[in-house]
Amino acid sequence: MMNDKLIAKNSHWVGYVDDRKVPFHRLILEKGTTYNSYFLDTEKPTIIDTVDISFGRKFVENLKEYTDLEKIQYIVINHVEPDHSGALPALINKAKEATIVTTELGAKELKEMYKLHDKKFMIVKDGDTLDVGGKTLKFLETPYLHTEETMITYALEDKVLYPCDIFSTHIATDELFADNAKEDITEDFKVYYSLIMHPHRPYVQDMIEKIRDLEIELIAPSHGYVLRDPKKYIDLYDEMSKANKDKKALILYSTMTGNTKRIANYMANELEEVDVETETMNIKEDVDMDEVKAKIEEADAIFFGSSTRYADMVGGIEKVLKEIKTINLDGKLGIAFGSYGWSGEAVEVIKDYLAETDIKLVDSSYVIKTTGMDDIKFPIRVKFNPDEEKIEELKLSSRVIKDILVG
Ligand code: FEO
Repeated sequence: MMNDKLIAKNSHWVGYVDDRKVPFHRLILEKGTTYNSYFLDTEKPTIIDTVDISFGRKFVENLKEYTDLEKIQYIVINHVEPDHSGALPALINKAKEATIVTTELGAKELKEMYKLHDKKFMIVKDGDTLDVGGKTLKFLETPYLHTEETMITYALEDKVLYPCDIFSTHIATDELFADNAKEDITEDFKVYYSLIMHPHRPYVQDMIEKIRDLEIELIAPSHGYVLRDPKKYIDLYDEMSKANKDKKALILYSTMTGNTKRIANYMANELEEVDVETETMNIKEDVDMDEVKAKIEEADAIFFGSSTRYADMVGGIEKVLKEIKTINLDGKLGIAFGSYGWSGEAVEVIKDYLAETDIKLVDSSYVIKTTGMDDIKFPIRVKFNPDEEKIEELKLSSRVIKDILVG
């Protein structure tokens, strides 16, 4: 076998080096990249992640040098983006016995993307393990690093972490290990973190908490070098993702039955949870405008909320919206929210007011462009009382605002 690259006992790098200037997330990767896939030559042969869709056929041909493809039992997909799952359709067509191992959302997305409804899937949850005959794999869900369905895989006996995009670097290299690289990769590693992971930094802290008790000797990510000094790179992620406690949020609302107040409180709790100092104010008709204006000037993100009654706002929030035109709001985030029963016009009117100021209005388009998240909707609209599902959405919305604030 030509150029076999072993990362641990019976664990082979079987990826693809892409030395083109690859287009990626609206950037050009000047140094190219690699798509790292790993073959575990165990009693139940296992593949961890695949390669970019453009190289599927070459990837499958290359794998034949390592194993009879029909003997492959498991294909672990940590992350669904096509630079890692792209060769899955070509592989699963040859590896007819294989079961695809992924998260629940991962399975749903893979079936839709590649029409794999008739293939075998194993859904794994946080902490589940899988014996692949000679190695035990443990799975940990790492949502939003950097997409919702992601997980990481840890090989217990080898002490190897397979975190897919996490801890990656975009460099096309034939050298396997970072410590053998001709140049120090630290800057490239940090740039990758800033572009891909930093917008989701609260989740980076969650991930670090999950792997804290694992004994990790090697990190084998899906782009760039394999890392034989895991502590250095985990510490870098820890340091770069630490919360910035200097940001302030202000949540102003007028409420009719208490539902808009509940929304405000759920968001305030979550923002405090992620270290954003947050204040809420119920804005009544007799609002003290000087006090409100002083608080707005101090805040980095201002939420404006109202219930809808007869297609309009309630309480004193409209007085505040008329007044903010006189304040310099440049550099601040503005978010509209509210509870409603029928059409929820008040939220839209608040949005219109904010659009007439120099505040940065947070709408869905802005969130997609700044964070890549397309499943969180802004402005925040809640029909009647927020149920469990909506409360989770409110928490996510709060984290998105925090991510943008500290981004
Ligand atoms: Fe390397 Fe999120 O793809």
